[in-house]
Amino acid sequence: MEAFIRGLPKAELHVHIEGTLEPEMMVEMARRNQVAVRFASVEDVRAAYEFTDLQSFLDIYYEGAGVLRTEQDFFDLTYAYLERAARDRVRRAEIFFDPQTHTERGVAFETVITGIHRALELGRDELGISSGLIMCFLRHLSAESAHETLEQALPFVELLLGVGLDSSEIGNPPEKFDAVFAQARRAGLLVVAHAGEEGPPQYVWAALDVLHARRIDHGVRSEDDADLLQRLSDEHIPLTMCPLSNIKLRVFPTMADHNLKRLLDRGLLVTINSDDPAYFGGYVADNYLAVTKALGLERADLVKLATNSFNAAFLRVEDRRAFLDELNRYVVAFE
Ligand code: ADE
Ligand code: ZN
Repeated sequence: MEAFIRGLPKAELHVHIEGTLEPEMMVEMARRNQVAVRFASVEDVRAAYEFTDLQSFLDIYYEGAGVLRTEQDFFDLTYAYLERAARDRVRRAEIFFDPQTHTERGVAFETVITGIHRALELGRDELGISSGLIMCFLRHLSAESAHETLEQALPFVELLLGVGLDSSEIGNPPEKFDAVFAQARRAGLLVVAHAGEEGPPQYVWAALDVLHARRIDHGVRSEDDADLLQRLSDEHIPLTMCPLSNIKLRVFPTMADHNLKRLLDRGLLVTINSDDPAYFGGYVADNYLAVTKALGLERADLVKLATNSFNAAFLRVEDRRAFLDELNRYVVAFE
């Protein structure tokens, strides 16, 4: 089963590039940029990765991102993720980045996006990974800050696929950002949003109705609202789930309690993703594997999840068709 999962062609639609910063790279970048971090060694960094909820993770995640300073740093970070993803047969990656985490520290928007973009181009040419970049607004910051960030992004709009919303969910509902998302949509950007990770189903409704999100990141708490599940099912709205993240951040007590299989069986367009793999103990195939073990997924479930990942991706029809054909050939050849 593990070999089947690792070789399964798949799309990854929910991965924060800052969340792929492995401790080794963090320590190396802190050294080369002469940034002080409170961790003396790779072991110290790993030992700090004990989280009790989303906020306890975010505090460490933003601290870790402080070592990223130069265009080369953003290039190295992104290319390392792509090399790792290629080993899990990720064929399409739609990658989040959090510009405010960097611009607030005095790193130019252009430095961040240029470094990431150059790595994506090389990943396409050398690794054959198709990709897109989604800029997330930090919801714990103000709507004005999100507006300023969109203004900084507009000269680079051709490098962006869409916009998203992440960071501390509870107390920061989607409505706070209605105007900036409207402006982003007018600029031709596609919309996704984290909702229903820790927050209530009302935040998922608002992500759909106020922000016009085309996918919901996480969305696991939608299960508390039968009308919402019906809507998600009727409108084929993808949920980009991240099982290892949910266990590390205690959204579910154990993987056996995760609702991924129930919602998949309920007909929802569920996908599996890694969120912040350097912090949560696994990349995308590790997430498939963990769920398979805990929830007893079968080969057909895995094929469905990989199919969903391409159907939920922002792809042109002919590219989607090509990826689904590749997946189909893999499944046939494996039998
Ligand atoms: N930023 C990085 N990972 C996140 C998550 N799981 N939820 C919200 N914001 C995030
Ligand atoms: Zn996330």
